[in-house]
Amino acid sequence: MIVAIDGPAASGKGTLARRIAAHYGLRHLDSGVLYRAVALRMIAQGQDLADAEAAARAARDIDPADLEDPALRSRRTGEGASIVSAVPAVRAALLDFQRRFAAEPPGAVIDGRDIGTVICPDAEVKLFVIASAEERARRRALELTNRGEPVDEAAILADIKARDDRDMNRLTAPLKPADDAVLVDTTTLDAETAFLAAVAVIEARLTAG
Ligand code: DC
Repeated sequence: MIVAIDGPAASGKGTLARRIAAHYGLRHLDSGVLYRAVALRMIAQGQDLADAEAAARAARDIDPADLEDPALRSRRTGEGASIVSAVPAVRAALLDFQRRFAAEPPGAVIDGRDIGTVICPDAEVKLFVIASAEERARRRALELTNRGEPVDEAAILADIKARDDRDMNRLTAPLKPADDAVLVDTTTLDAETAFLAAVAVIEARLTAG
């Protein structure tokens, strides 16, 4: 079984993906980490994130050790990931890795922006997870505080809105629900309730065959 979970930044899709993977004994891939690793590699080498050719090279050079760096989670890296992810050659370089991950038994839960639309269009279950921008900013602020990063919630809200705009309006693989995705709005749901709602959707899909 493949479960594709897409949605905007801080919508709760990552937490949901991890819990669903654990519940069904599936492997989990946070595809955002791939784009973050490209940005981090460029930042480390002092490259301009807007340089599409350098971004494509960095994407082709990614290796598994890059995916473990704690700096991947920082706000700056997330912003950088959103910028480099608009480059078609970056997306193309990361496609194979994601498809191979999905194809390995016993199946996978992959979260991102284009999993249901581009990476795994045949996924058995597709969820599109949303939450209001204000609630997402609150969650992201909490997450950064817990990691000891300085937090300015108004700046985070502005970042989230800019990131939504960039992720939804890019030409290649923009953030949008697949036609057969089920919408899960987590604005007023805690992680446990969101998980139960997602399991209900998955069970209904599995029963329907
Ligand atoms: O989910 P995240 O915040 O880690 O993602 C960081 C950026 O990476 C996001 O703003 C857009 C990009 N991304 C993407 O374009 N496609 C994906 N499947 C996952 C992430």
